[in-house]
Amino acid sequence: MKVVALSSIKGGVGKTTAAVNLAQLATEAGQRTLLWDLDPQGAATYTLRVGARVPGGGRKMVRKPRRLGESIVDTQNPGLKVVPADFSLRYLDLELADLNKPKAQIARMLDRVEDRFDFVFLDCPPGLTLTIDAALRATDTVLVPVIPAALPLRSFDQLTAYLRADKQLRKVQALAFLSMVDRRKKRHREMAEFLPAERETVLSQSIPASVHIETMADFRSPVVVERPKTAAADAFRKLFDELLTRMD
Ligand SMILES: Nc1ncnc2c1ncn2[C@@H]1O[C@H](COP(=O)(O)OP(=O)(O)O)[C@@H](O)[C@H]1O
Ligand SMILES: [Mg+2]
Repeated sequence: MKVVALSSIKGGVGKTTAAVNLAQLATEAGQRTLLWDLDPQGAATYTLRVGARVPGGGRKMVRKPRRLGESIVDTQNPGLKVVPADFSLRYLDLELADLNKPKAQIARMLDRVEDRFDFVFLDCPPGLTLTIDAALRATDTVLVPVIPAALPLRSFDQLTAYLRADKQLRKVQALAFLSMVDRRKKRHREMAEFLPAERETVLSQSIPASVHIETMADFRSPVVVERPKTAAADAFRKLFDELLTRMD
């Protein structure tokens, strides 16, 4: 089972958009795929037309690892399953903190569904909280969308430094991709061209700023399903392929 976390200290950068589209593409590639929505805002849950309900709330869910399996629901795409989020997840940090070894809990929960899935995507809320730390410990690769500017890139570096400083997290591969690239802006063009060449950890495929992505939440469907022939869908397909080559 491969586990990818969509995570970044910054919000609004394209984590959920990437989680939903990459999970869809993994499913289309024949992988048994799970998307675990860890964000109380539940944007991935909403986009995939799944009811926002965590049975018993976040507190019950994290207390017993086997509850993860019981929380999994189907989506309209038969191969793609979701652990939905609802607003009860807003206290997940506190609920984890009550447990013995809280940082290991998400990995423990995923162990219980190991034989049911080939690919798991964790859609994290923004930040670097206890929940996210626990998610990263269950992760093979953390994928970070970076809007082409200095501060978002710095926040990727902060996350990378955090991983390096921890004996267990050091094993997590951190990869960035440029998100919402606007080709009309010189700086965006330059960063999309030079950054992947300069940095091993920045994928060469970027995701364009696209009105088709912006309206995804209106359609409540991944852009790769709703608008498969657009440049945005094409970019996600190539990003998925590149991610696969980096996870071998
Ligand atoms: N490539 C893109 N082009 C245009 N809008 C985008 C793109 N990626 C994300 N968005 C929009 O930006 C907002 C934040 O994206 P989202 O994926 O929810 O970010 P995050 O999960 O990091 O908070 C959403 O309204 C989304 O529709
Ligand atoms: Mg999100």
